[in-house]
Amino acid sequence: MIQTNSPKVLRDSFNRAARKLRISVTDKCNMKCIYCMPNGNIKWIDSKEILNFKEIIRIVSIFTHLGITKIRLTGGEPLLRPSLENLIRGLIKIQNIETISMTTNGFLLEEKINQLKSAGLNSLNISLDTFREERFRTLNGISNLNKVLRGIQKASELGLKIKINTVIIRNWNDDEIINFVKFAKDTGLIVRFIEFMPLDGSGIWNHNLVVTKKEIIKIIESSFGNVISLDENNSCPSDPATVYNFDDRKGKIGFIPSITEPFCSNCDRIRLTSDGRFLTCLFEKEGYDLKKMIRNAKATDQEIINYIVNCYKMKPEGIVQLIRINQLRPTLNLMHTIGG
Ligand code: 5AD
Ligand code: SF4
Repeated sequence: MIQTNSPKVLRDSFNRAARKLRISVTDKCNMKCIYCMPNGNIKWIDSKEILNFKEIIRIVSIFTHLGITKIRLTGGEPLLRPSLENLIRGLIKIQNIETISMTTNGFLLEEKINQLKSAGLNSLNISLDTFREERFRTLNGISNLNKVLRGIQKASELGLKIKINTVIIRNWNDDEIINFVKFAKDTGLIVRFIEFMPLDGSGIWNHNLVVTKKEIIKIIESSFGNVISLDENNSCPSDPATVYNFDDRKGKIGFIPSITEPFCSNCDRIRLTSDGRFLTCLFEKEGYDLKKMIRNAKATDQEIINYIVNCYKMKPEGIVQLIRINQLRPTLNLMHTIGG
């Protein structure tokens, strides 16, 4: 048990408190989405640099003493990490951990969802950017879209809370927006449209490729009538997605307008990379090496807590600051190493 003489909450210099920890369990991926992965040969992180489950659990326990209650597992593709259900079982036992969610591309869901659910996984964000097999191959770099759709259906039948994440890129998939709304209406799953961010490995990002929330709403309203903002947003101001509904109350859609309405001022997230670096912000490049502290320096929990508290004070303002100084350059960070 950790005896702490430190603050109960992590607070940065903008007075933001951290509540949610996103853990990238691997940088590897079985897809090659154009908005994420670099072209050509990818240099994966050496396996001995990747945190093992025991190390992850120790770090998470430490974070719970600083106010972290919610965990999200990310990648790369988290389902490529062998025996992930064992990690979930370990995490759920940590006192003060309330929920465990996962962001996945859905490809391996149909074979793994049963064991994940019984291990204690609460909810899933599943990426889906197209309903066309051919486009799936060019946009996501793999074939068999139906496998993903079957995974979504199976997870939904098992009663997991599911959100669909859709990155819309101009001239790539903006002609499918209406189909995504129909999907939301047919399945009852929330579809969240995400503005394309300059975190792609291939460096294709530019402002013109961003289809804004405003544009998407206009397209949707021309087919389905006015969208209605739902109260549930107000109960969770730190959730970056505003959720909307329609007159007929069928179908919920959300938006993550990272570029046009950055939500950095309400940010309550921190990140742990698969090689054990603590990132206070998605747009922070190197982060702070916790693995070194636990492996080489054999630091005590209290020493790690003190280090984390000091690092968090230096959390940058976020993408808002980058937009202000016009520093939105492609490849600020590689998304597959930080998991979104
Ligand atoms: N811009 C916006 N969203 C992205 N994602 C990955 N790369 C980008 C990007 N460049 C999202 C995907 C996925 C999650 C891991 O992050 O939709 O759901
Ligand atoms: Fe893999 Fe997700 Fe990146 Fe696509 S967005 S390449 S699924 S990590």
